[in-house]
Amino acid sequence: MANTLLTTDPRIAADILKRGGVVAFPTETVYGLGANVFDAAAVARIFEAKMRPADNPLIAHIAEIGQIERLASFVAPSAKAFIDAFFPGALTLVMPKTDAVPLVATAGLDTIGVRMPKSALAHEFLKFCETPVVAPSANLSGRPSPTSWEAVFEDLDGRIDCILQGDATEIGLESTVVDVTSEVPLLLRAGAVSLEDLRRVVPETRRYEPAAGEAVRSPGLKHRHYSPSAKVVLVSKLDLDAVEDASTAAFIGISTPTAAFGLSKVCADVNQYAHEVFAFFRDCDHRGIKTIYCESVNETGLGAALMDRLRRACAG
Ligand code: TXA
Ligand code: MG
Repeated sequence: MANTLLTTDPRIAADILKRGGVVAFPTETVYGLGANVFDAAAVARIFEAKMRPADNPLIAHIAEIGQIERLASFVAPSAKAFIDAFFPGALTLVMPKTDAVPLVATAGLDTIGVRMPKSALAHEFLKFCETPVVAPSANLSGRPSPTSWEAVFEDLDGRIDCILQGDATEIGLESTVVDVTSEVPLLLRAGAVSLEDLRRVVPETRRYEPAAGEAVRSPGLKHRHYSPSAKVVLVSKLDLDAVEDASTAAFIGISTPTAAFGLSKVCADVNQYAHEVFAFFRDCDHRGIKTIYCESVNETGLGAALMDRLRRACAG
């Protein structure tokens, strides 16, 4: 068992990573669990600490655009356009990997996801690391992604070397993932950079729909995700009146519910809903809530990403 160091100093956290350590750090989406991408043994420890299935690839995080060439063997014109428009930000681009990237990082795939976080603390940490850092979300596999260092601590204390303590994350949902390995960019996972945003830059971009029998292109999409212990139920505004025994249940959404829920969070808008939802799931578990009713939202902009996560949480 590792002794987990808590620090607010990005230089100390980076030194631990450079010595082969596994370090959780904040980004503007969610907290990540990082290791040096070129250190196969350290990368393997990420999978162990999270209990992550070995077939789920990791995203490489960079501080400078120049680091892409150590990771990707080819940057397509569409990828260049997305980099210009959205880096740094909540966008991950899947590109063909170089031989320098160990297969443990990409779960055996010949592609690598690359993202340049925008958060100032993430940027400083990554700069001090002096290497690209692979990082999945810093939760135990299957649990809601961590949006605060306390949530990382809850899942991973004693299992990782260090937590870089920052503020609660700004967005609260994971990055948009886009495959730019073929002519038409494919949206693999919805996030804060919406399909509409992507199409303004590359109009042909489309949502990935696996053909019958095709191997799933983003392995993470098939795994259980974002699940609290409580049962999650999606409801529209009208259904709320039909909820029975609200006292042992919780509600999160934008409308004010008519039923008296044991715990409820009414958000001002979709942005706040996205920002709060994973922390709310964890809070419900602490309080022994049995069912969480989540209000549906319009599937435009960040709403599409939020609905994606809510549907997965229902299935979990
Ligand atoms: O916002 C985020 O993306 C956060 C922060 C820490 O950057 N990271 C994150 O990582 O959410 P993770 O591992 O929880 O989710 C990564 C997703 C998975 O669905 C994975 O399958 C997909 O990205 N992915 C990663 N590399 C891929 C690749 N080479 N090809 C296809 N999908 C890939
Ligand atoms: Mg994750």
